[in-house]
Amino acid sequence: MKLMWLMVGSLVASAAVANPSPELASQKELKKVMALKGDPVNGKDRYQAACASCHLDNGAGQPDGTFPQLAGQHPVVVLKQMTDIRAGARENAVMLGAAKAVSEQDLADIALYLKLLPIPHDNGRGEGEFLDDGLVLYKRDCLSCHGRSGEGDPKTNTPVLAGQHYKYLLRQAMDIRDGKRLNSNPKMMEAIKGYTDTQVIAVTDFMSRLVMPELPKKKK
Ligand code: HEC
Ligand code: HEC
Repeated sequence: MKLMWLMVGSLVASAAVANPSPELASQKELKKVMALKGDPVNGKDRYQAACASCHLDNGAGQPDGTFPQLAGQHPVVVLKQMTDIRAGARENAVMLGAAKAVSEQDLADIALYLKLLPIPHDNGRGEGEFLDDGLVLYKRDCLSCHGRSGEGDPKTNTPVLAGQHYKYLLRQAMDIRDGKRLNSNPKMMEAIKGYTDTQVIAVTDFMSRLVMPELPKKKK
């Protein structure tokens, strides 16, 4: 009997090793792809072939919020979301096939290419009804991580929000509040947990209007 339990125990243990949790699998792959040197030329080819049909050639996504803007995003943010989606830590049935079809080197290349694309500022915005409240909430609960101009921070894996479409932000923020986007930062989930629908609308509408200052043009 004792032997049987030992055997069951080791079977369970080896299954856990063979099937690590989605979070662990993603962390492992993220570490690997972050260590690869990206090649933006291959990144452009692979992006156009595997991603542009939805996220558009210029990486701008769609103002109706179906597809997010990717242009100018921090590579670590793109890569973390990609490895989460590949491992099942973030659900995204629409692009799962595309996410799995690319190699780890392609991912590193695509992320570097996206970083180099200029952020378009004709993104979808909200109705503008509650912007005063949006500003107050953003400053109180979101600015410390997301930044004054929505620039995010690669060190804490926080995305660029400037230029992101309102309807996409709204859907994500609702999912984060309702615990449906499971790979979300726990402190952020805490910050947004008590929000009413109107407060989520107010803060995401405000976010959709953030503009990052233009970087000084390089002299030729
Ligand atoms: C069939 C359409 C489709 C294709 C092809 C596609 N995506 Fe997506 N992608 C989506 C959708 C839809 C979402 C938003 C899902 C949601 O609302 O949660 C998304 C979200 C993302 C996100 C998350 C963005 C964020 O701000 O969190 C990243 C990163 C991304 N895609 C990268 C890629 C890359 C890289 C490729 C190519 C390898 C790709 N996508 C191909 C449809 C697609
Ligand atoms: C503790 C830091 C932190 C705080 C505070 C925070 N966020 Fe975030 N936010 C993140 C990180 C990190 C991500 C990237 C995904 C993840 O890890 O959750 C993110 C992602 C998002 C996204 C998804 C963007 C995308 O491209 O998919 C939205 C929307 C968002 N945050 C809204 C908010 C709002 C609204 C607030 C304030 C109520 C807020 N966040 C406060 C760290 C934070």
